[in-house]
Amino acid sequence: MHGQLPKWMWNTSRESLRFLDISHNLLSGFDQPPVVLPWVSLIGLDLSFNRLSGPLLVPSLHMGFYHISSNKLTGEISPLICNASSLRSLDVSNNHLNGMLPQCLENFSVLIVLSAGNNYFHGTLPHIGTNRSDLVIIDVSRNKLQGKLPRSLANCSRLESLILSSNKFDDVFPVWLGTLSKLKVLAMRNIGFHSAIPRHQSNHDGFPDLRILDLSQNNFTGQFAFEFILSGKAMRGIDLNGSEYLLQYRFFVYEPGLGDIASSRLEYSITLMNKGLERYFQKIREDFMAIDLSSNRFEGKIPEFIGNLKGLRSLNVSSNILSGRLPPSLGNLTNLEALDLSHNNFLGEIPPSLLQLSFLQQFSVSHNKLLTGRIPVGNQFSTFGITSYEGNPGLCGFPLPKKCSRSEEGPEHPPSTAEEEDGVELDWKFAAAGLVSGLVVGVVLADFVIARFSERFIEIVALLIRLMKTLKRMRRPRS
Ligand SMILES: *[C@@H]1O[C@H](CO)[C@@H](O)[C@H](O)[C@H]1NC(C)=O
Ligand SMILES: *[C@@H]1O[C@H](CO)[C@@H](O)[C@H](O)[C@H]1NC(C)=O
Ligand SMILES: *[C@@H]1O[C@H](CO)[C@@H](O)[C@H](O)[C@H]1NC(C)=O
Ligand SMILES: *[C@@H]1O[C@H](CO)[C@@H](O)[C@H](O)[C@H]1NC(C)=O
Ligand SMILES: *[C@@H]1O[C@H](CO)[C@@H](O)[C@H](O)[C@H]1NC(C)=O
Ligand SMILES: *[C@@H]1O[C@H](CO)[C@@H](O)[C@H](O)[C@H]1NC(C)=O
Ligand SMILES: *[C@@H]1O[C@H](CO)[C@@H](O)[C@H](O)[C@H]1NC(C)=O
Ligand SMILES: *[C@@H]1O[C@H](CO)[C@@H](O)[C@H](O)[C@H]1NC(C)=O
Ligand SMILES: *[C@@H]1O[C@H](CO)[C@@H](O)[C@H](O)[C@H]1NC(C)=O
Repeated sequence: MHGQLPKWMWNTSRESLRFLDISHNLLSGFDQPPVVLPWVSLIGLDLSFNRLSGPLLVPSLHMGFYHISSNKLTGEISPLICNASSLRSLDVSNNHLNGMLPQCLENFSVLIVLSAGNNYFHGTLPHIGTNRSDLVIIDVSRNKLQGKLPRSLANCSRLESLILSSNKFDDVFPVWLGTLSKLKVLAMRNIGFHSAIPRHQSNHDGFPDLRILDLSQNNFTGQFAFEFILSGKAMRGIDLNGSEYLLQYRFFVYEPGLGDIASSRLEYSITLMNKGLERYFQKIREDFMAIDLSSNRFEGKIPEFIGNLKGLRSLNVSSNILSGRLPPSLGNLTNLEALDLSHNNFLGEIPPSLLQLSFLQQFSVSHNKLLTGRIPVGNQFSTFGITSYEGNPGLCGFPLPKKCSRSEEGPEHPPSTAEEEDGVELDWKFAAAGLVSGLVVGVVLADFVIARFSERFIEIVALLIRLMKTLKRMRRPRS
């Protein structure tokens, strides 16, 4: 359907209309719209994904959900919205709305989802939580919100996801959110936060259920409180099903005698930097865990403790002033798919334990200047290019043109069997996984196949390895 919502609609079924869904059309606006939606019994209205312009029509008194995201609405939210305190889900994201978010949202005690991202809202965040709050999802990303985060957020005991990225706040890291036992996602990319993370009274066990933490592009300084912020059991990979998706909400319209006559689902989504690309995740698996501390001024070491965060898939600490040696316990993070340690001041060698990371697809230690010694040989490391290591004159070995001297090889890291010409005892499982870089199931699959077609399969793998070595030799510049 396209064109305007016709004016006759405003006089239709005023007393009886309970639910209206005309989302995902090409509707462009409203003909002579009333300020307040006229349907007094309306419970749910979904107008999202159209091209509606004009102001936001005020929800009627008893509405439970109002979804009007991804349109072209302009202007401010009318204060009359304060009457609609039965709202459970309000989604006005992806419009051109401006003005301030109404402070009375703090009185919406049954609101579960507040989604207002990607508009032009300014001013401070309402003091949600001052009054009772059931909020589970707050997404106000990509606006121009200012000031400090209201402390009342610490009262939102059901909060699972707080997405604040791309705003203009001026505050320090909210350690006081660490008491929220259900908080899973905390995204604060590029929101003007700064300073050292304040020390908390209890130095551990904050943020018990946190899985996704994005602090990238702020002005944080000092040491990152790994033990306090990341000690939750979720990060440690405990008690996860791995099959469920996080945070999906379905809102029902119930009709006595008929049951649920309509529903509207809000799927939870987030945009994250993943594997070097800004990626939109429409759904998030329960066992997806990521930490992005990049582009701040964090200093100090990465503690051995990091090896406990077994669930991690992505760790980005790029562009800080972290120093010291890389902890060998990084090799314990066997789910890692992306590890970015570039643009810091790390020194010493790349721990050979990283060879255990068989799902690693993206790896960078570039521009640390003081890293030395031989680059680990084999496994996924046969797939990373020169750019992963550039800006470290002390590193040697494949894929860099610089050969390692005897002393750099050291007794504890003999050259991998994968490099040996006549090796039947090839490190073939990993070699195969590395060859088809990115095919994360490589290793698992190989184990399965080998059990059934052992000899044939070994032949094939040996062939693949020979091919890979030839390719490698062709890539390697002669010196
Ligand atoms: C809607 O109804 C009111 C009175 O019930 C009437 O005055 C008005 O003209 C009607 N509007 C339209 C567009 O039919
Ligand atoms: C809605 O709010 C306005 C002012 O905020 C008030 O005057 C009006 O009576 C309210 N309407 C209802 C139906 O409660
Ligand atoms: C919240 O409700 C209380 C009591 O009704 C009222 O006094 C207060 O002004 C409301 N807050 C906002 C921000 O509207
Ligand atoms: C909290 O919100 C409810 C519902 O809007 C309101 O009735 C109540 O007065 C508010 N209480 C305070 C202290 O603001
Ligand atoms: C948290 O809630 C309590 C009671 O509901 C309230 O008294 C307190 O002021 C709230 N805290 C903040 C920081 O708003
Ligand atoms: C970070 O802080 C420094 C010094 O206080 C300031 O010059 C710089 O503009 C800030 N950067 C950001 C991204 O806020
Ligand atoms: C695992 O899944 C079951 C059923 O799907 C669910 O009841 C349970 O809460 C889940 N466990 C966790 C830790 O999420
Ligand atoms: C890590 O963050 C930096 C800066 O934000 C970004 O340029 C880089 O692509 C990220 N690395 C990965 C592997 O996502
Ligand atoms: C973690 O890594 C360290 C150092 O590589 C190792 O000694 C330790 O056994 C590992 N722990 C587990 C549980 O894998």
